[in-house]
Amino acid sequence: MRLIESVREMTAWSREQVREGRTIAFVPTMGFLHEGHLTLMRRAREACDRVVVSIFVNPLQFGAGEDYEEYPRDLTRDSRLAESVGVDVLFAPTAGEMYPKGYHTAVEVDRLTEGLCGASRPGHFRGVTTVVCKLFNIVRPDVAYFGQKDAQQLAILRCMTEDLNLPVSIVGVPIVREADGLALSSRNVYLSPAERQAALVLSRSLAGARELIDQGERDAGRLRQVITEAITAEPLAAIDYVAIVDNRFIQPVDTLEGQCLIALAVRIGKTRLIDNMVVEV
Ligand code: PAJ
Repeated sequence: MRLIESVREMTAWSREQVREGRTIAFVPTMGFLHEGHLTLMRRAREACDRVVVSIFVNPLQFGAGEDYEEYPRDLTRDSRLAESVGVDVLFAPTAGEMYPKGYHTAVEVDRLTEGLCGASRPGHFRGVTTVVCKLFNIVRPDVAYFGQKDAQQLAILRCMTEDLNLPVSIVGVPIVREADGLALSSRNVYLSPAERQAALVLSRSLAGARELIDQGERDAGRLRQVITEAITAEPLAAIDYVAIVDNRFIQPVDTLEGQCLIALAVRIGKTRLIDNMVVEV
């Protein structure tokens, strides 16, 4: 596996692959890799001749007072893990490489970015779409893999790719969970043992909603209420949002119909966690 840190070298490598007719699969990450990331990489490995993984803690997508500085980083461990699943290139640029002096451009998707995490983290998705668009141009992938864990991010990146006619297929991969239901996240390392236990309320509240839906419940207000009550019963948890939206444009719905997304953001102590499920009715 090759480690590339400069944009120029990454661009040259990708151009060479394209020239030789090889296909490239791409998995963008912020590192501190876990089984969720590795699942995306295994899917990528099956699909294309070459697999590129980026590790870049993108300052543009962190707000003031968020955890940019504290975000866990361990390139040595990440390199070993990426190599173990057959990644060809680990692209780990510095912030100065990605946003040199004089950098002034952003990519922004309207409407889909307004609610949910967009409402509680202003500017976050502008940072995500900007960096992913840049990474696509540098890496030139045929296919890019994203987790359903960040459902709104996935919908926004699908929209950006379609709207800007980017020549990349976007593939969404189901959420990878711990045996007890907690969705894997690099931020789980922030949790104390008591918080780790309390964090189960996210997946548990979604499972409760799923049961009601299986019994025929279609009223979004009622489902939100049941989820809210379940989370409120956990003393260490504070709700950021509980939302039920359509899974394409991320707009609130009153009644479940077609493909909907039930998404939560919950603070457990100082750690903000997200989880979601897609329901098709
Ligand atoms: P990061 O949080 O590192 O996640 C990288 C990719 O892994 C994302 O597509 C995310 O949805 C996926 N992922 C994380 N946890 C997962 C899980 N438990 N199951 C399945 N997939 C999971 O998301 C980002 O980085 C950044 O915003 C990025 C897209 C790299 C842009 O900076």
